[in-house]
Amino acid sequence: MAILVTGGAGYIGSVTVDALVARAERPIVLDNLVYGHREAVDADVPFYKGDIGDRGLVAELIRTYSIDECIHFSAYAYVGESVTDPAKYYQNNVAATLELLDVLREQGVRRVIFSSTCATYGEPQYTPIDENHPQQPANPYGWSKLMVERILASFDAAYGLRYTALRYFNAAGATELRGEDHAPETHLIPLTLAAAAGKIANVSIYGVDYPTPDGTAIRDYIHVADLADAHISALERLRSGAGSDVFNLGNGSGYSVLEVIDSARRVTGCDIEAAASPRRPGDPAVLVANADKARSMLDWQPSRATLDEIVASAWAWHQKNPDGYQSGA
Ligand SMILES: NC(=O)c1ccc[n+]([C@@H]2O[C@H](COP(=O)([O-])OP(=O)(O)OC[C@H]3O[C@@H](n4cnc5c(N)ncnc54)[C@H](O)[C@@H]3O)[C@@H](O)[C@H]2O)c1
Repeated sequence: MAILVTGGAGYIGSVTVDALVARAERPIVLDNLVYGHREAVDADVPFYKGDIGDRGLVAELIRTYSIDECIHFSAYAYVGESVTDPAKYYQNNVAATLELLDVLREQGVRRVIFSSTCATYGEPQYTPIDENHPQQPANPYGWSKLMVERILASFDAAYGLRYTALRYFNAAGATELRGEDHAPETHLIPLTLAAAAGKIANVSIYGVDYPTPDGTAIRDYIHVADLADAHISALERLRSGAGSDVFNLGNGSGYSVLEVIDSARRVTGCDIEAAASPRRPGDPAVLVANADKARSMLDWQPSRATLDEIVASAWAWHQKNPDGYQSGA
């Protein structure tokens, strides 16, 4: 039994691959390294540099390793870029994923875990957001993920492919070995820590006039290792014969941008300069998960839940790897 992990050299994928190895599972990583890093994957884990849209390669991997499950992380994930270059997003996140799923189907792989996102909900109509919240994405990135959720539902109905779509809120933090190293970086915690380390002059606060207690946007940060654990629970649930389903993955508590920056000041002991900037279009005031369904049905709960813990883990990794990974994007 082996598990194809697409995007396994990326941030969340690499942490999940480590978690799989720790449980004596057999991950096989397929990543084109457009954004990932080769050294984020242990040398003992079979690694293939290639594209999920390469049908021949995917079929060969499935046959060579007797793969019967797939955790599909690979995607482009820059919301702003998805607005200016939607073709790139629909091509990679939808069209290439369709090729992947079609080959999985052809080759008899019947269990898939998919990285979806809170961006499929769009502007919240209520908060915290549960899985029944209407899905009306505010950008092509969110649409691309919602389209894949729909494709998966059709594949289940027609071909019996069982899937779990995990709608992550904001992944954050690091393990001892793996951390967040995106280029360009757009996420608040690594940018705040880059400001703490003096790599950038300040961290931008997009919007200081939101209807929130301190005027800045509130998000739900979930530790990347907790996300990894949820993937394994989701896999085990499918293995036990459960049907396809969707789950939010978040902490269920929100922190404002100013609270994140304050946490980073506490954790690092550094002055961190923050600069007020206008709101970004499509950025809601509050995005917080109701993750009760995952807690009860996946028998999962976040174990690194405080903001300071999350920020401290990211800071420890950044101090150990001041230039991030040395290869890849
Ligand atoms: N980071 C978050 O907070 C967050 C939140 C919600 C959802 N997600 C989703 O989770 C997944 C992982 O996110 P991440 O932050 O680890 O991103 P990441 O960019 O670090 O990892 C994605 C990986 O996929 C690879 N990749 C992209 N296109 C590929 C292709 N066609 N073929 C093979 N490999 C390809 C990249 O090289 C990269 O290593 C993505 O699908 C993302 O949309 C992330």
